[in-house]
Amino acid sequence: MQAATSFDLVFFGGTGDLTWRKLMPALFQAFRHGKLPAGGRILAVARDEQSDEKYREWLRERFKEVEGSKRPSDEEFQRFASMVFYRRMDLSQPEHYTRLREWLGERQADTVVLYLATSPHLFTQICEQLGAAGLNHPKVRVVLEKPLGHDLASAQQINRVVRSVFDEQQAFRIDHYLGKPSVQNLMALRFGNAFFEPLWRRESIANIQITLAESLGVGTRGPFYDGTGALRDMIQNHALQLLTILAMEPPATNDADAIRDEKLKVLRALKPFTPESVTRDVVRGQYRAGNVGGQSVPGYLQESKVPPDSRCETFVALRTEVQNWRWAGVPFYLRTGKRLAARDAQIVINFRQVPHAIFPGPQRANRLIIKLQPEDGLELELLAAKGGAPGEALAPVKLDLDFDKAFSGAARVGAYERLLLDAIAGKLNLFVRSDEQEQAWRWVGPVLDAWAASEEPPRPYTAGSWGPAAASAMVARDGFTWPEEV
Ligand code: BG6
Repeated sequence: MQAATSFDLVFFGGTGDLTWRKLMPALFQAFRHGKLPAGGRILAVARDEQSDEKYREWLRERFKEVEGSKRPSDEEFQRFASMVFYRRMDLSQPEHYTRLREWLGERQADTVVLYLATSPHLFTQICEQLGAAGLNHPKVRVVLEKPLGHDLASAQQINRVVRSVFDEQQAFRIDHYLGKPSVQNLMALRFGNAFFEPLWRRESIANIQITLAESLGVGTRGPFYDGTGALRDMIQNHALQLLTILAMEPPATNDADAIRDEKLKVLRALKPFTPESVTRDVVRGQYRAGNVGGQSVPGYLQESKVPPDSRCETFVALRTEVQNWRWAGVPFYLRTGKRLAARDAQIVINFRQVPHAIFPGPQRANRLIIKLQPEDGLELELLAAKGGAPGEALAPVKLDLDFDKAFSGAARVGAYERLLLDAIAGKLNLFVRSDEQEQAWRWVGPVLDAWAASEEPPRPYTAGSWGPAAASAMVARDGFTWPEEV
C-alpha cells in the first residue's frame, strides 16, 4: 500500500458510539502496529464544547472498555492521544465548516479524510456544507457509514448529493465485512489459486449457502433496529457483498473498478423477486424468549424500546439465483438472524455428487466450508475409505485450515483498521461503489414492498434456535439442508 506522507482524519460524530467503539480502537491498533502514516492528525468534531485535553481524557476512559490485549498502556495512550484533537461544530452552521477548513488549512496535509460517523440523516446536509465550504478539493476523501438509505429512492438521494459535491473516486462507502481478513481471503481463494476455478460453476456446484448468524439480540439498539430489520441491516449489504465475491467473474486486474464492475454484474444478474416468489423464497422471522448459551434471554418484543406489536424481522432466509451461464439454476441461499444458536458466519459450497455411484451406502458430496467468524479458515470435506471392511461406505474426512493460526501476529488487522488505513491511502478496492449499492437496494425493494403489503407477521422462532422451521423447509424443497442439519 502506498502510504500518504501526512494526513488529517476528521470524525464527524466524534463523541458517538461508532467513534469510540470501533474507529478510535481501530486507529489505535494501526498506530500500535506502526501502520498509521507518521505526521497524522485525528480531529473529532461534535456538538459539545470541550478542550482537546478533556476529549482525550474522555477517550482514555472509553479505552478502558476495550478488550485487554487491545488496550493501550499509559505511555502508548499518551503518544496516540497527542495526535488527537477536538473541535465543537454545529453541523448546520456554515461558519463552523469555514473554521474547519481553516484548521485543516493550517498545515495542508497530503490527504484529508472526512469520516461521517453521524446519524445518516445528516449525511446530505454535511456533504452540502462541505461542498459550500470548499472542503471537496482533490485531496479530500469522504467516508460514509451504513446505513446508506433505507430503500432505493433514499439511497439515490444520498448518492445524488454526494456526487454533486465529490467525485466517485473520493467517496468511500463502508461495508465493514469487506475489511475482514476472512472476506479478503475469499478473493485470494478464488483468484490466487488455480484449484477451484474449473469447479466454480453450475456443472460442479449444487448450491451455495451463506449464513451470517449472531447469538446476540438487539440489545440497546431497539429503536434503530426496529426501523431497519435484518433484510436492510445484513442482507442488502454484507450478505450480498459476500455473494458478489463468490459469484463474480475473475476481474482483469486487482484495481477497485475492475473488481467493482464484476461485482455489479452479479448484482444485475440476481433473479428479481415478485410478490409470488417473495412468499415462496423468503422467510422472515422474529425471536421469542429462549435460551442462548445457557442464559435465558427475552424475546424481541420485550427488548428495550421495541414497540410491543412490532413486525420487524430479526431473521431472514432467502433463495435466489444468479442468472448467467456460470450459475444458471444453482440456488444461492442467504440467511441471517439475531439470537440464533451461535455466532457463526460461514459459506458452504455444496458440490454435486459423483455422476455414478460405485460405493455402497448413502451418497454424499464434497463440501467446501469457508469460515468467516468467529474462526477464519477453510474446511474441505472429502470422502474416503476407512479401510476397515470390504464393501464399506465412504466416510467424510476434513482438510482443515486455520488462517488465524497460519498467519498469527500483527500481520492480520481488524476490519475497521484495514478500512481506515485504505481510506487514508486512497485505496477503494474494499469500498462499495454507488451503483453497486443502488443495485442491491433495487433487488431487495420488492421484498420490502411485499412485506409492507402483507398482513402476515414474521414467523416466531425461539431464541437459541436456527430460526423458523420454514427456513429449513425452503431449502428442503430443493432437496438440500442447512449445514447444522447435515
Ligand atoms: C452491522 C449490523 O452492520 O453488522 C449489526 O448493523 C450487526 O446489527 C453487525 O450486529 C455484525 O457485524 P460483525 O462484524 O459482528 O459480524
